[in-house]
Amino acid sequence: MAIQSVIFDLDGVICFTDQFHYQAWKKMADKMGIYFDEVINNRLRGVSRMASLEIILERYEGEPLSVEKKEELAEYKNDLYRELLNTMKPSDCSKVVRRTLHELRNRGYLLAIGSSSKNTPLILERLGLSGFFDAVSDGNNITHSKPDPEVFVKAAEMLGSPAAECLVVEDAEAGIRAGNGGGMKTAAIGDAVNCHLADYEMEHFSDLLKICE
Ligand code: BG6
Ligand code: MG
Repeated sequence: MAIQSVIFDLDGVICFTDQFHYQAWKKMADKMGIYFDEVINNRLRGVSRMASLEIILERYEGEPLSVEKKEELAEYKNDLYRELLNTMKPSDCSKVVRRTLHELRNRGYLLAIGSSSKNTPLILERLGLSGFFDAVSDGNNITHSKPDPEVFVKAAEMLGSPAAECLVVEDAEAGIRAGNGGGMKTAAIGDAVNCHLADYEMEHFSDLLKICE
């Protein structure tokens, strides 16, 4: 079936927040005396905030932490992360990404966001993209994070598009698995190319203009 709609992951696809996540988690890990590096940070791609915390806590050697303490740690990280997000500006969404989005819209495709992040509204606002997408499905309207397909299934429902007519664009293996599991076509960019599970592998964001002719 032909592609009618494109659902984009946000972090690592539309903009690059990896370093902000890393810096904020690193401060939290240092405070707790937990080893954390960029390789571990890469495992957090596409994974929800609390699931990310659990991955970081694999290296924690102290007494078991209560649910309240874990929530406090996640909040500490998120406050630092939001301070960093507040330094973002529209130019943090590249010209190539903007041009490609506009061209896809000109070609008649519906465009949506499908992100695990609860900070999606703030990020879109900082990039000057609030209200641009035809639908936004994010960490605020889901109960299961990627690789569960929920976030993309909800985005497709918001668009009114059958799953088979949606293309999911992702930089995380968890996100490619989510798109495949939801019965959508998938396009990998960046780190997600390495898992070779997507229908399309992209070198550049503008490759979408070849996939969606
Ligand atoms: C995803 C990121 O987009 O959002 C993950 O790739 C992150 O690394 C997840 O953990 C949740 O983000 P937030 O902003 O809700 O803490
Ligand atoms: Mg991502």
